Amino acid sequence: MFGKKKEIPQIDPAQLELIQNAQNRIKQKKRLYIHFVLFLIGALFLILANTVLGIGEHFKLFDINWFVFAILLWLFFFIYHAFNVFITHKFMGKAWEQKQLSTLVELQQRRIEKLKTNLKKEASHIAQSDLYNESLIENENKSVVTIIVAAAQNDAIGKGNKLIWHLSDDLKRFKSLTNGHHIIMGRKTFESFPKPLPNRTHIVITRQSDYPVPEGVIVVNTLEDALDAAKTDTQPFIIGGGEIYRQSLDIADKIELTRVHEDFEADTFFPKIDLSIWKETANTFHTKDENHKHEFSFLTYERK
Ligand SMILES: NC(=O)c1ccc[n+]([C@@H]2O[C@H](COP(=O)([O-])OP(=O)(O)OC[C@H]3O[C@@H](n4cnc5c(N)ncnc54)[C@H](OP(=O)(O)O)[C@@H]3O)[C@@H](O)[C@H]2O)c1
Repeated sequence: MFGKKKEIPQIDPAQLELIQNAQNRIKQKKRLYIHFVLFLIGALFLILANTVLGIGEHFKLFDINWFVFAILLWLFFFIYHAFNVFITHKFMGKAWEQKQLSTLVELQQRRIEKLKTNLKKEASHIAQSDLYNESLIENENKSVVTIIVAAAQNDAIGKGNKLIWHLSDDLKRFKSLTNGHHIIMGRKTFESFPKPLPNRTHIVITRQSDYPVPEGVIVVNTLEDALDAAKTDTQPFIIGGGEIYRQSLDIADKIELTRVHEDFEADTFFPKIDLSIWKETANTFHTKDENHKHEFSFLTYERK
């Protein structure tokens, strides 16, 4: 009932294009050949018309018969036709257009690939800088817990619950750095002041439960509670004394040290600064003068 299906020969599209191109070329060359034959016949006719039939016998230009100009003009059109067939259509025909198109497409694709790679790189830079900004914002929100201390060459800081020296510029620096901030101190250091310092929030650490303090002074029982009470401050200062310094060195971010360049007898000392943990970021030397009996340097250390 169902006969065998007749097989249709499959022609490759590229082959088909080649065939079509070849057919076109044949047509173009045939037309050129016909043009050539017509030109020969036409030229012969024009010569005979003028010389034998005497058409336009007296019409001359620069003493040359008119048919010469007519033949030259036709020759020009014939050469133009031949040029189109052998040059223009050969090199700039459909195949040429196709080639140009694929070259252009290839170029565009390469550009798109390049753009994609650049975009990926850019995206990773943006992501990195976003991370960096986020970490900056986080760091900005984080308090810079700063120890502020004046220590002698032998790390002495106090004797009989008093400071050992009077250095006016050191006191000024203490005042200007801590101004407007929270100052965290041990009970003994607090008691070494005649009265609370103006324009600073005092946080006193003691193990006593009802330690009496003037109004405005905060009392806490641990160093952690002291830091918690100062958490709104961008830079709370730990101002001593020896016991509190020892406990806070591990949690501080910065040390503002006034190093007095002499040894002193003392009962309270600052712990050694471990230079594998801390790096010096600022150092200003101060000579002796009428207000300063000792040479000293302002040093800043930041955690590495
Ligand atoms: N050169 C400087 O820059 C500088 C700066 C500040 C002070 N100083 C000197 O340092 C000396 C005072 O230092 P210091 O070591 O003797 O005393 P301090 O550190 O000022 O205070 C010690 C007191 O703080 C309380 N405390 C300590 N650790 C605590 C903890 N973990 N939890 C609860 N409370 C705690 C205790 O108070 P309670 O006993 O009430 O429980 C302790 O007796 C003085 O000579 C002062 O002049 C020098």
